Amino acid sequence: PSSEQPKMHPAKDVNVLVLAHPVQGHINPMLQFSKRLASMGLRVTFLIPMSTEKSLNLVNASSIQVEYISEGLDNVEVDKLSIDEYLEHLRVSVSRSLSDFIQKHQSCQENPAKVLIYDSIYCWALDMAMEHDMHGASFFTQCVVSCIYYLVHQGTVKLPVEAVDGQGRVLSDPPVMSVLGPNDFPSFVVDVDKYPAILKLVLGQFSNFRKAKWLLFNTFTELEEELVNWMGNQWSLMTVGPTIPSVYMDKRLEDDKDYGLSLFEPEAEACLRWLDSKPPRSTVYVSFGSLASLGEDQMEELASGLRSMKSHLLWVVRESEEKKLPRNFMQELGLDDDKKGLVVRWCNQLQVLSHGSVGCFMTYCGWNSTLESLSLGVPMVVMPQWTDQPTNATFIVEVWKVGLRVKANERGVMTAEEIESCVNEIMGGERRKEIRENSLKWKEIAKLAIDKGGSSDKNIQEFVSNVLDLGT
Ligand code: UDX
Repeated sequence: PSSEQPKMHPAKDVNVLVLAHPVQGHINPMLQFSKRLASMGLRVTFLIPMSTEKSLNLVNASSIQVEYISEGLDNVEVDKLSIDEYLEHLRVSVSRSLSDFIQKHQSCQENPAKVLIYDSIYCWALDMAMEHDMHGASFFTQCVVSCIYYLVHQGTVKLPVEAVDGQGRVLSDPPVMSVLGPNDFPSFVVDVDKYPAILKLVLGQFSNFRKAKWLLFNTFTELEEELVNWMGNQWSLMTVGPTIPSVYMDKRLEDDKDYGLSLFEPEAEACLRWLDSKPPRSTVYVSFGSLASLGEDQMEELASGLRSMKSHLLWVVRESEEKKLPRNFMQELGLDDDKKGLVVRWCNQLQVLSHGSVGCFMTYCGWNSTLESLSLGVPMVVMPQWTDQPTNATFIVEVWKVGLRVKANERGVMTAEEIESCVNEIMGGERRKEIRENSLKWKEIAKLAIDKGGSSDKNIQEFVSNVLDLGT
């Protein structure tokens, strides 16, 4: 039965390979899942397609072996490639390096891996695994609801999406989908002509997924219960999240304080010093993750809203975005110890979200940021940009009720006034209490899910048992 501890093999020599996509929001959950598998007796080799290790800060992943495989971009001018060309190049190069790696692994290991866990957007990795007599586990770094919409778009499943009520909302089964208005679906589905190459990539996740032996999702059952059950009735999916370092969750793994592998250098000390000097729940943490890029107008509105709000500020502005900050913005925040806000290029987000001085997270709703905020009980102000973020944002506000959404005006801009008003409301307005209580409720549920005997823990135990059975 799944709730029992998996059989531990005395030699601890059951290997698995894990293939990640080299983007922070994809590395983190797969790395964390790998560490959990290693703690349960599997020998995990974590593969990252990346020519150089120089830019990586490998902090804490000693329980697994990390290997860099070539993504074949050494002699390529990436800036000159279209997204389509880049993705095709990546597919061809990484599948070649993966195949070479597996061959080498199989020839030199006494007990070579029988399982490849791969990022679901690398659907071709499954064919590669099967060619080498391995089973595949597709790991989804998005939530179930977004995946259902990709499946609908692809025509694999049918929801009565044509049934729309008076407010333009979709009436559907499972009923929770009815919270999504036509613009809340993942952006690649709403505007199919904007990023056709990425649409192809996300739909590709479902091209061969029936051949994967396991479908692993970084979510937890209670969070998307109706959808997990609905999808689980058709395919055998396993929820294994939230994949957040143990020290923040169930404290099961010793010395597991961080994801372990950062593509950016966090200014951790400066953030901690800043937060330590602030009263409880007085600071707004703002970050748009590792990929999003705001337009200059939008950046100006955001800066202006954050300057005028009542709370303290900790804002992550990546180096590539810094030039869009309004001139004098830093001086206006103040330069002495009493200043209103701190701007850094990158932080340790989990450390920040779990700090008592943080009162809310202004986020673009990348799935990892969403799960992290929910699991650490931090209310959100949401400003989704693209991909799965509009869908995540709608669920944050309307289903889990842990945040407020900054509405865009008729020109699609989120104004300074609207930003300031949402932040002030969540930090000190009428909705504050209700939203905070809901956030703390989800924090507890997330902990229970990953803790011993919880829904995700049982699934992970079952997965490990399955893998160990194959390994004998
Ligand atoms: C991408 C997509 O944008 C997202 O929608 C999809 O669901 C996953 O892949 P990314 O842009 O990397 O994600 O954002 P997000 O999913 O939020 O992940 C960012 C990760 O970086 C988080 O785990 C967060 O903890 C970490 N982070 C972010 C930091 O450690 N420091 C920061 O300053 C910002």
